[in-house]
Amino acid sequence: MNIAVVMGGYSDESVISLRSGQLILSHLDLAKYKPFEVHILPEGWNVLIDGNKYLINKGDFSFEKDGATTTFNAVINTIHGTPGEDGHLQAYWELLDIPYTGCGFYQSSLTFNKRDTLSVLSKFNINKAKSIYLSKGDVVTAQEIVDTVGLPFMVKPNQSGSSLGISKVNDIADFEKALQLAFAEDSDILIEEYLKGTEVSVGVLNLNGKTTVLGLTEIVSHNDFFDYEAKYQGKSDEITPARVDEQTERKIRETAIKVYEVLGMSGFSRADYIVRDGEPYFIEINTNPGLSGQSIFPQQAEHAGIPFSELLDSEIKLALQ
Ligand code: DAL
Ligand code: MG
Repeated sequence: MNIAVVMGGYSDESVISLRSGQLILSHLDLAKYKPFEVHILPEGWNVLIDGNKYLINKGDFSFEKDGATTTFNAVINTIHGTPGEDGHLQAYWELLDIPYTGCGFYQSSLTFNKRDTLSVLSKFNINKAKSIYLSKGDVVTAQEIVDTVGLPFMVKPNQSGSSLGISKVNDIADFEKALQLAFAEDSDILIEEYLKGTEVSVGVLNLNGKTTVLGLTEIVSHNDFFDYEAKYQGKSDEITPARVDEQTERKIRETAIKVYEVLGMSGFSRADYIVRDGEPYFIEINTNPGLSGQSIFPQQAEHAGIPFSELLDSEIKLALQ
């Protein structure tokens, strides 16, 4: 079975995605699958074989090598950010009738938009931070922000990943700089109340037909919050399982399953929560969680004693259904 392992993407997260792709390539059972390394990058769409590049034909997602055309039976998608986590490629593969792992195009598109995800979840009694939504050009004073969300607060691009463009504003003098960083990633931003508590990251997936919590990882950032450096350059402790009491753990698990199901997710996901006074507050969900050596999802699989190749089998099976 020909499997396209698709990685890269057009956002600043492409470097992480290229690492995630390597983890997948090294864990696919070669007795069952014939994997191809496919890079979707701003400079082009290519299959890499023995150091050579073969251009993908965008008309049918095939490629030619030595006069022969190869098509794919399924795609394992591990792009973070656009165009692989926000529904664009999902819609494309859907039209071409090529099975792909993870969420459908609508769920991908919805969950990549932080504001819209929060808006849907608010109908289902999921706790979340107080927030303000701003578009480029909107005029708002720092005082209005503080009156609504308090101080400190978080400033985030509405659509982005890996904490790129996110700042924690402790002092109102830093607000302008935070706005600039967030607007550099997206034309819409979210300003959120800073929730002080325990950060817990929860892997959830559909494992052999059942919504399953893979694990709970507590994040202890050495920086002021879990920023890019803390995520990928070792400036954090990631503790699996999270050190929370039994009742809190049960609440987090129930919430994580509810969120996954309410949002109509499929395949791998990782959602982040802050636990304050024993209650989990939803922060965000990733439909293509990072699978790099520093990422949380593979750590949770290891801790759960589930071989990564087994998770990939389940993903492919689900995609082919
Ligand atoms: N967006 C990054 C890759 C993550 O969720 O792990
Ligand atoms: Mg993310």
